[in-house]
Amino acid sequence: MSAITNLADPMDSLQQLVIDATTEIGDAISIDQLDAIDTTLMGRGSSISEARRGLGAIKDPDERRDTGRAINDVANQIKDLVTAKRSTLVATEEAAALAADRVDVTLPGRIPPRGTHHLITQTIDEIVDIFVGLGYTMARGPEAETEFYNFTAMNIPETHPSRHESDTLYLDYGEKDGGVLLRTHTSPMQARYMEQHDPPVYVVVPGKVFRSDAVDSTHSPVFHQIEGLAVDHNITFADLKGTLATFAREFLGKDTKVKFIPHYFPFTEPSAEMHAYSNGRWIELLGCGMVNPAVFEHVGYDPSAVTGFAFGMGPERLAIIRHGITDIHGNNDLRPLLDPDQRILRQYV
Ligand code: PHE
Repeated sequence: MSAITNLADPMDSLQQLVIDATTEIGDAISIDQLDAIDTTLMGRGSSISEARRGLGAIKDPDERRDTGRAINDVANQIKDLVTAKRSTLVATEEAAALAADRVDVTLPGRIPPRGTHHLITQTIDEIVDIFVGLGYTMARGPEAETEFYNFTAMNIPETHPSRHESDTLYLDYGEKDGGVLLRTHTSPMQARYMEQHDPPVYVVVPGKVFRSDAVDSTHSPVFHQIEGLAVDHNITFADLKGTLATFAREFLGKDTKVKFIPHYFPFTEPSAEMHAYSNGRWIELLGCGMVNPAVFEHVGYDPSAVTGFAFGMGPERLAIIRHGITDIHGNNDLRPLLDPDQRILRQYV
C-alpha cells in the first residue's frame, strides 16, 4: 500500500491506494484477516486519516475541497469493497461450517440390542397361560413366609426334616406365627388363597422358593415353582389326571405319554408324581395329589362339602427338559439357566 506522502500530487497517491486496497481486500481469505486490512486502510494512522489531517495544509480552498472530496471517494470505495468482501467471506465461512456439520441421514442407525425375558420367566408365562386357558386364575404370594403357612397349615409335622435349620433359610423377624423363613415351596399359597376365597377355586401361583442347598446340576438355593390348586364339588383323581396330562401335552407335545407314580406329601392324600416320556426316557415333571382334608380344616373349608387336587412343578426343570439344556456330557444341567453370560441363554431363546 502506498502512503499518500506526496501531497503535492495527492490524486495519484489516492488512485494508487484504491488499486492496492482492491488487491489486498480481494486476497483476504478470512474475516479476521479482512478486519485487520480494514483497520490498516481506514483506521487511525492509516494513509486515509493521514491525508485528511493534511487537508488543513492546503491553502487553496478549491484544491482543498477537491482533495477532500477525492479522499472521501476513496474512503467510500474502500468501505464498499470491505463490505462486499465481508459478505462473501461470511457466506463462505457459513457454507464451510455447514459442510463440516453435515449429517449423513442415509447412514444406517445404531440398533440397540433388544432384550427378552429370561428363559425361566418365559417358561413360567407359558405354563401359566396353559392353565389360564383351562379356566384358572393366577395369584402371587410372599417369598418371606411364616412357619405357620409354610409348614403347619400344610400339615407338615414338627418332626419333618424340611423344618430343620439346615434345610430351610430362616429369617430374623421375630416369632410371629412360629417365625419367618424364605418359603421352601409355593404350597403355603394354597392355604392363603383358600382363606381369602370361597370355593370353587382354580388358581396357579408362580414364584421363587428357597432351600439351603449348594448349586449343582440339579440344585439351586433359589428356584421357582408353580403351584396349582383346584377345589370344587366332586373333584376326583380323574380330574387331576386329565388336567395334568392335558398340561403335559400342551407343553411337551400332543403325543406326550404321562404316568402317575404313588408318592407322599403331607398336604395331599393320595399323592403322586407325574412322569412324562420325553426323548426316550421317563422324567419326573411334578408332584401332585388330592388335597388333604386336614388342609381344608386349617383354612376353614368344610371337608365334607368340597374336594380338590393340588400340584407343584419346577419351571427350571421343565425348561431343561424342553430345551435340552445339558452340560458338555449331555446330562441335564440347570446351571446354564443361572449363568449371567447372555451368550449362554441366547442359545435357547
Ligand atoms: N410342594 C411340593 C414340593 O415342593 C410340591 C407339591 C405341590 C406336591 C402340591 C403336591 C401338591 O415338593
